[in-house]
Amino acid sequence: MADQDGKDRVRAHYEALPYPTRDPADERNRLITGSPSHLDEINHYVFGGRLDFGKPFRALVAGGGTGDAAIMLAQHLAEHIPLGHVDYLDLSLASQAVARARAEARRLTNIAFHHGSLTEPPDLGAPFDYIDCCGVLHHLPDPEAGLRTLAGLLRPGGGMGIMVYGALGRTGVYPAQAALRALAPEPDVRRRLSVARRMLGDAPETNWLKRNPFLSSLNDDDSALADLLLHPIDRAYTVPEAAALIDQAGLTLTALLAPARYEPATYLKDKDLMKRAAKLSWIEACALAENLCGNLKIHIAYVSKGTPRDAAVAQLHDDAVPILLRTDAAALAAHLRQRPEIKSTFDGIPVIYPVDPAMAGAVALIDGVRNIGELREQAGVDGFDRGFRAVYRALNGLNLILLRHPAPPS
Ligand SMILES: C[S@@+](CC[C@H](N)C(=O)[O-])C[C@H]1O[C@@H](n2cnc3c(N)ncnc32)[C@H](O)[C@@H]1O
Repeated sequence: MADQDGKDRVRAHYEALPYPTRDPADERNRLITGSPSHLDEINHYVFGGRLDFGKPFRALVAGGGTGDAAIMLAQHLAEHIPLGHVDYLDLSLASQAVARARAEARRLTNIAFHHGSLTEPPDLGAPFDYIDCCGVLHHLPDPEAGLRTLAGLLRPGGGMGIMVYGALGRTGVYPAQAALRALAPEPDVRRRLSVARRMLGDAPETNWLKRNPFLSSLNDDDSALADLLLHPIDRAYTVPEAAALIDQAGLTLTALLAPARYEPATYLKDKDLMKRAAKLSWIEACALAENLCGNLKIHIAYVSKGTPRDAAVAQLHDDAVPILLRTDAAALAAHLRQRPEIKSTFDGIPVIYPVDPAMAGAVALIDGVRNIGELREQAGVDGFDRGFRAVYRALNGLNLILLRHPAPPS
C-alpha cells in the first residue's frame, strides 16, 4: 500500500470513528490519567526526576486523538509548570474536535491544536522537550520513518513516551482481522462493524480472539471494535522489535511499563531458572518476560534522545522524593500493618511482594514532599534502607511509586 493511500485510509477511519470515545462533559467529573505522559512519569523516566518546573517545557502530542494524553499533560503543566505548553497534532479533524472540546471544558489555555500528519509535520517551532506518541506508530505505513521524524523534533536530552501494540498479548486479533477482510471487503466501516459483530457471535469457542479473555471485543463500542478489528493499518511488536524500532531512530529505551511486567522474576519461582534469567541483559530479560507471560497487549516505553538509561531514570537516593500514584499512603500503611505484602494482578496473573511490616510507619509518611533521607529519620525504623528498597521495588514495579529530585537552584 502506497504511503499516501495508507495515510488517507487511516485518516478516513478516524474521521468516521474517533478513538477512544470520549465525552467532553465528563471533564467536569474526572481527569483521565495514565501512561505514557503522566508528568511524574516523564520526570522519572526521561529527566532523572530532575525536571526544573520553573523553566519552559514544550511537549508535542503526536496523533493526539480524542485527547487523553494532551488533556492530562496540559492539566498537569497548568498545575505545576507555569511555562509549560502542549502542541496537539492529528490527522483526524473529528478527533481533534473532541480533544478541543475537552480542553475548553477544562479552560486549558496551554494547548495549541494542529491538523496534519506527524510524518510531514507542519512547522511547530521544534525542538520539543518531550513528545507523546501513544497508539499511533503501529498505524503508520512506515513506523520507522515516522519515529525518526519525531526524534528529529526533540531537543538533545529530551525524550518521548511511546505506546505500540504487543504481539503476543494480541493473539487472536490478526486472524480475526484476516477473517473480516474476507467476509467484509466493502469499504463502509459501519457495515463492516455489523459483519464483525455477527462473525464474533458465530465463531466457535476455539477462535483465538474468543480464547484471549484479556482482549475485549464483542462488548466494545463501535470505535473500539473498529480499532481492534477493522483498522486499515495495524501491526504489533515483540519487545526486541519495539527496541529495534526505537534504536533505529537514534533513541535510547529507558523504561517499559509497568516494570515488573517485564521482569522474568515476576513469573518464575524456580531458583535455577531465576539464576539463568539474571544473566540476561535488560532487553533480553524483558523479551523473556514477554515470552513467559504471553499477555502483554501493549508496550509502553519511555525513551531519551542522548541521555543514557541510568541517568534518564531517577534513582533511589536520600534527596529523592517518593511520589505515590493511584495509592493513598495512609491506606497502604494500614494495609501493610494487617498484611505485610503488596499485591496486584497483571491481566489474570497474581503478583505478591512480601515487605517488612515495620515499613508501614515509613509508608504512612510518604507525602510527595519528604525525601527518603527525611523518611528514614522520621520513621526511625531499624533496617530502613533494606525495607524501603523492597517497598519501592514492589510499588515501582507496579508503577505505583516514582521519584522526584528537588530542582537545582536556577
Ligand atoms: C488509536 S488513536 C490514539 C489516540 C491517542 N494518542 C490516544 O492514545 O488516545 C490513533 C490516532 O493517531 C492519529 N494518526 C494516525 N496516523 C497519523 C499521522 N500520520 N499523523 C498524525 N496523526 C495520526 C489518528 O488520527 C488517531 O487519532
